[in-house]
Amino acid sequence: MRLDRYLANAGVGTRKEVKQLIKSGRIKVNDTLVRESDFYVDFSSNISLDDKKIDYKEFYYLLLNKPKGYISATADDYHEVVVDLLPEYKKYGIAPVGRLDLDTTGVMLLTNHGALAHALLSPKKHVDKTYIAEVNHKLDVSLVNKFNEGITLEDGYTCLPAKLEILDDTHAKLTIHEGKFHQVKRMFKIFGYEVINLDRQSFDILTHDSLAIGEYRELTTEEVEHLLSYIK
Ligand code: URA
Repeated sequence: MRLDRYLANAGVGTRKEVKQLIKSGRIKVNDTLVRESDFYVDFSSNISLDDKKIDYKEFYYLLLNKPKGYISATADDYHEVVVDLLPEYKKYGIAPVGRLDLDTTGVMLLTNHGALAHALLSPKKHVDKTYIAEVNHKLDVSLVNKFNEGITLEDGYTCLPAKLEILDDTHAKLTIHEGKFHQVKRMFKIFGYEVINLDRQSFDILTHDSLAIGEYRELTTEEVEHLLSYIK
């Protein structure tokens, strides 16, 4: 790829900024000064800025404990977006994998690895998602069987069997294997419940256990390897 693209993708600066760095003679490729932005480099090239090696990482994988009030998008005219919460990673082109509502909190994966995002969102892959839902009146035990049988939503779509565990009068843990628009809220609504708080506890093996609301971290190598098995 072109040297300027490599540097921009590596997070060194914008395309304009890196072109300037190259022109001013601060970039070396394999210990040789290069002043051409279209100079061809690849992942085996040793590239440095002011003689300091630049580490290139093609893909970034982040786990965010999403707060309320942020849209699951990369840009929006009216609200703040989740990528604003990860300022040092925004430049790598990360995007949320799937959506959580504006008022939903919890586990959100963000990546610039499009093929992985696509695989994880595929309806065929049945990635498990677990939520804690708080509802507006007393939960009835009969719901457990109803959720397990597969709820038919108001638009006629029948959900896959879901596991509901009643935690107390108004809180339940729900595991679903798909991700339709507003799915959890719509499932409860069929039985006359309004979800007043929703927190995603897990997305596949990812949990927000160690993260306070609004905090994020890079995935571990083991977590990434596990998720990549969805692409194969
Ligand atoms: N289901 C919902 O209703 N909302 C979410 O944010 C996620 C799942």
